[in-house]
Amino acid sequence: MSIFENLDLIQQKFHSEIETITSSEALFQWKAKFMGKAGELSEVLKGLKDVSPQDRPKIGARANELRDDFEKKFSERLKSIEGQEIAKKLAAESLDITLPGRVRHVGTVHPLTQVTDRILDIFYRLGFTLITGPEVETEFCNFDALNVPKDHPARDMQDTLFLKNGHLLRTQTSSMQIRAMLSQKPPLRLVTTGAVYRSESVDATHAAAFHQLECLCVDKNITMQELKGTLEFFAKEMFGHKTQIRLRGSFFPFTEPSVEVDCSCVFCAGKGCRICKHSGWIEILGAGMVNPAVFEAVGYESSDYSGFALGMGIERIAMLLHGVNDVRLFTENDIRFLEQFT
Ligand code: DAH
Repeated sequence: MSIFENLDLIQQKFHSEIETITSSEALFQWKAKFMGKAGELSEVLKGLKDVSPQDRPKIGARANELRDDFEKKFSERLKSIEGQEIAKKLAAESLDITLPGRVRHVGTVHPLTQVTDRILDIFYRLGFTLITGPEVETEFCNFDALNVPKDHPARDMQDTLFLKNGHLLRTQTSSMQIRAMLSQKPPLRLVTTGAVYRSESVDATHAAAFHQLECLCVDKNITMQELKGTLEFFAKEMFGHKTQIRLRGSFFPFTEPSVEVDCSCVFCAGKGCRICKHSGWIEILGAGMVNPAVFEAVGYESSDYSGFALGMGIERIAMLLHGVNDVRLFTENDIRFLEQFT
């Protein structure tokens, strides 16, 4: 086979093989096979020494032609492969900007906690200090020392959740008055808050577990006037400066005298509406002057000291403040309800 024929064959082979190569890396390796020092073209051109001198320039020209052709083909093919490779890479890394973003749910403080914090803040400004205590209580702190008679219906199995060990789940935060007085000497200006439990059948206005907030103030010469001033300040700070309060005589075993405290209706400003049952007043809490029997039970000298106490239901205040008509909403954790308090 003549050297010319050989060169033709290499060219054909080059042209048909180049189309089968699909990566730039493989393309460079393959190029060396034809055009490198030990490549097929160089091999053929080694035969040049056996060719007659007059034929040599023709073969040289043909070889140059082939080189140019190979280079041209090679760079065309390389360009096309690289184009494909870039397109492939872009497709793999592309961002779909039409996809909705990830929603970040931001939590908020529970409405009952928000209300508790507001109430606490009002009493802090009056110089009250926060104390906390156990939800599992002794009968002594929850009832006996608070002057609740042994046969009082509140102690009944139907109202109080007794535990097997003889203790109970506290039914009122008033138990903390006893703990405070047993561990501290007067003067006291304390506020406490937390969950309380009752054996209650649950409906829109009754829960078996709810929250109370309680204040106790003990010092020399504390009078009802002091209680009234505290209540007035609280009501105005909580419900607005136009709010009025009214004290109605009532009964609690641990206070004497005892009062129930109403504030002018938050919804109709005292004019009378459905919420206040057209009376213009809404009951918000219980209070009174500490019963000397309670002082006796904790070892305070009842002739030297006097004091007042007050207690309220957090759920009740929150319902009033936000116009919520079902206490169960606070514990159902329905996000549609909760997100209204952000
Ligand atoms: N412990 C009472 C209750 O659960 C609320 C209460 C009334 C607390 C009068 C007091 C108070 O401190 O003086 O219904």
